[in-house]
Amino acid sequence: MIRVCVLVSGEGSNLAALIGQLHGHVVRIVGVASDRSGPPALTLAEADGIPTASFVAGEYETRVDRDVALADWVDGLSAELVVTAGYMSILDAAFIRRFPDRIVNVHPSLLPAFPGIRAVEQALDYGVKVSGVTVHLVDEGVDTGRILLQEAVSVPRDATPGSLHAALQEVEHRLLPQAVKELAVQIA
Ligand code: GRF
Repeated sequence: MIRVCVLVSGEGSNLAALIGQLHGHVVRIVGVASDRSGPPALTLAEADGIPTASFVAGEYETRVDRDVALADWVDGLSAELVVTAGYMSILDAAFIRRFPDRIVNVHPSLLPAFPGIRAVEQALDYGVKVSGVTVHLVDEGVDTGRILLQEAVSVPRDATPGSLHAALQEVEHRLLPQAVKELAVQIA
């Protein structure tokens, strides 16, 4: 079973999907780290007995220092794959270069359309009729890494950011575990 670290910032619904669908039989989630203290996602991990840690930027001299500490923590757990699941900080190159082709992200748009923050709002502002979810490898750009899986979602006329994000999250909760499972088979 490959060893996986998950990076989170918020509710942790994608983390819950990974735990529910993969943890303990397809992969072993060996740690969950956050860029803020006390998000619900960490509580969720703790409930499953998974070690957690917070790396809050304000507690380090620089953002690079924070990401080096985070990378050291991931290395210390001998993780073979890092999954960013609703992780809201941009990982510094100092982190990314330590885990080439071993970081996976889920993004709520059909990349390369609408990278970065507020992807759902950006898509609605543009008036798109089809959006979707992308699972991709993380490189040093913002949401520019190689696409692993992608699935389209129709945008209803009366969609709001909340309703569209909820529809996209349903897909995220299926697509992210599927991509991690496929990578786990390749890495093992
Ligand atoms: C996800 O919808 C993801 O696409 C976005 O942030 C959300 C995080 O949700 N970047 P959760 O913390 O996994 O519930």
